Amino acid sequence: MAGLTLSGIGKVYADGTRAVEDLNVQVEDGEFLVFVGPSGCGKTTALRMIAGLEVISEGELRIGDRVVNSVPPRDRDVAMVFQSYALYPHLSVRDNIAFGLKLRKMPKPEIRKRVEQAAQVLGLTEYLDRKPRNLSGGQRQRVAMGRAIVREPQVFLMDEPLSNLDAKLRVQMRTEIARIQRDLAVTTVYVTHDQTEAMTLGDRVAVMKKGALQQIAPPQELYDRPANIFVAGFIGSPAMNLMAGTLHRTDADEFQLQLGSQTVLLPAAVIAARPALSDYVDRPVVVGVRPEDMDDAALHPGAEGTTLRSVADLIEPLGSDLIVHLAVDAEPVRGNDDIEELAKDLGQPEPGIASAFSTTLVARFNPRSTVTAGQPIDVRIDTERLHYFDQRTGLGIWATEPGTLDQFRL
Ligand SMILES: Nc1ncnc2c1ncn2[C@@H]1O[C@H](COP(=O)(O)OP(=O)(O)O)[C@@H](O)[C@H]1O
Ligand SMILES: [Mg+2]
Repeated sequence: MAGLTLSGIGKVYADGTRAVEDLNVQVEDGEFLVFVGPSGCGKTTALRMIAGLEVISEGELRIGDRVVNSVPPRDRDVAMVFQSYALYPHLSVRDNIAFGLKLRKMPKPEIRKRVEQAAQVLGLTEYLDRKPRNLSGGQRQRVAMGRAIVREPQVFLMDEPLSNLDAKLRVQMRTEIARIQRDLAVTTVYVTHDQTEAMTLGDRVAVMKKGALQQIAPPQELYDRPANIFVAGFIGSPAMNLMAGTLHRTDADEFQLQLGSQTVLLPAAVIAARPALSDYVDRPVVVGVRPEDMDDAALHPGAEGTTLRSVADLIEPLGSDLIVHLAVDAEPVRGNDDIEELAKDLGQPEPGIASAFSTTLVARFNPRSTVTAGQPIDVRIDTERLHYFDQRTGLGIWATEPGTLDQFRL
């Protein structure tokens, strides 16, 4: 098995479209790496370049130690699973799985052994003599996986392999893919536009926007320390709330965050963790708050100084949580490329996201809350867990110069 190294990989199509730009990624041997991003951000192009199905315009691609830019697909020792399973309808499951091996003139006993092993792994043993039309969607998807597995490749490449399945089956197959990949420990690059799929499957997740890598990190780190507004808004559901705010330093040398007409007090730990924030005093910043970092203040005695007065617009009881849509008078963030890109992904007309994301916040309350729609309410903000971004660059404000990516150098 082998890792994968993308160095400065770029793609410009014949018509001049730039689909991928300066992609630098090191996929470790046995790692499950997921590329995620909105439709059109260059995920498929990146994967097809790795597979050898698309010419690499710029940069160098290595599989293990070997530079493979000009190696034809069949000699790269990678196996790709596509969104459309592309099974041969007239062939049995067995022959579909064996197809590639037969083409390679592998000895029959070896083919049989590999097909049966793969069928075992995939739970397809009893279906080996069926035709694809007599299989469920999930089983067809497994046959497609089987074709990749029997090749025993160095690298699996998967392009939205679950997108043709219904929601329930998708979750089920997601678990299976994770298990199979763990069992086989084959280096895997997986592409999806679904952030939940990305977060649950990836050892690391690479977020892309408009052909460019935004951040690559383990799922929890991506969630807790998004490098910029785009990653912050793309990862997480319901999405992170984003609004404009201003930092103030009080006479007592404390930090306050002003959101519209209201202020909350920031713990000293916040500034200690993000020293660069002190450069933003009296300047506008983009503030992010995740739904679960807000709650009904009535359930948090001693929450004074960390609450926002609001009105509940809409309440969705989920049993485990109350999803509460709250109106606050904080200003929406405008004129930021990340925000516009997120709005486009959600199919919202600009600047719809601004009003949806900042004047109306989406909170995940404890179900013990007795909030009712139309009622004024104090919302407790977990002020240690707020996110801060530079309004112009969209970059997270951390320890270094305002608006640099030093924290996230790849
Ligand atoms: N053969 C092609 N010729 C020109 N442009 C293309 C071609 N294939 C894809 N593109 C463009 O490249 C960009 C990235 O596409 P793609 O890699 O398919 O994105 P994703 O898989 O993330 O949806 C898009 O703008 C798309 O329209
Ligand atoms: Mg695609």
